[in-house]
Amino acid sequence: MAAVKIAPSVLAWNLANLERAVEISVEGRADQVHLDVIDGSFAPNITFGPGTVKALRHLTDMKFDTHLMIENPQNHLAKFLDAGSDLVTLHAEVLNGSRFDELYSAVRSRGREMGLAIKPETDLPKWASDRLDKLSTVVVMTVKPGFSGQKMDRSVMPKLQRIAAQVKERGLGTDIEVDGGVEPDNAADVVKRGGNVLVAGAAVYGQEDPVSAIAALRAEAEKAGIRS
Ligand code: DX5
Ligand code: ZN
Repeated sequence: MAAVKIAPSVLAWNLANLERAVEISVEGRADQVHLDVIDGSFAPNITFGPGTVKALRHLTDMKFDTHLMIENPQNHLAKFLDAGSDLVTLHAEVLNGSRFDELYSAVRSRGREMGLAIKPETDLPKWASDRLDKLSTVVVMTVKPGFSGQKMDRSVMPKLQRIAAQVKERGLGTDIEVDGGVEPDNAADVVKRGGNVLVAGAAVYGQEDPVSAIAALRAEAEKAGIRS
């Protein structure tokens, strides 16, 4: 079982001060910082683009986990790679096997990691299971894409367990990231069900002391008994 990792989602912070959001992740010793890019078409919100990712890059070497909730990733992927995204996660709903293969080559030729995200109602498609070994991360969304602060959709848990079982059966080291409504009181359960990267917007940036909220969330997650 992979180590528990915490990925604070800056969407829950004041978007006028994303520098501070990244600094909080660094000070709180998060494992990666989760950058939600939304285009107003794939999901009903608009956040920021590659220019913002690039502007934040000078602050830290911390892994930039860029979650692209966008309709046409092929039009923008290169810019996010240029901006310094370490992991680029695309949505399965807007891809198929051959489109994935093309974009995967672009990501790997730059030495970056490719992730695949699925909405709560989407099953991991067959083309994606067939390519599981190429993915550094599967992002299992537990809220509808668009906004921080929603409640976790618990009906996604069986799917999370199925994907975790597939990764284990095949002996892969794929991270399984759980995105949406992760809180201290559900963190250990999510880890028991196979999630190992916990995205946390409100549970970190919505707290009075967001730096210590990162350690607090990690401590709860580790109560699942899986040590890093
Ligand atoms: C939702 C985003 C999430 C969100 C998580 O579209 O993908 O990353 O910011 O925020 P919380 O943890 O508050 O649900
Ligand atoms: Zn996200």
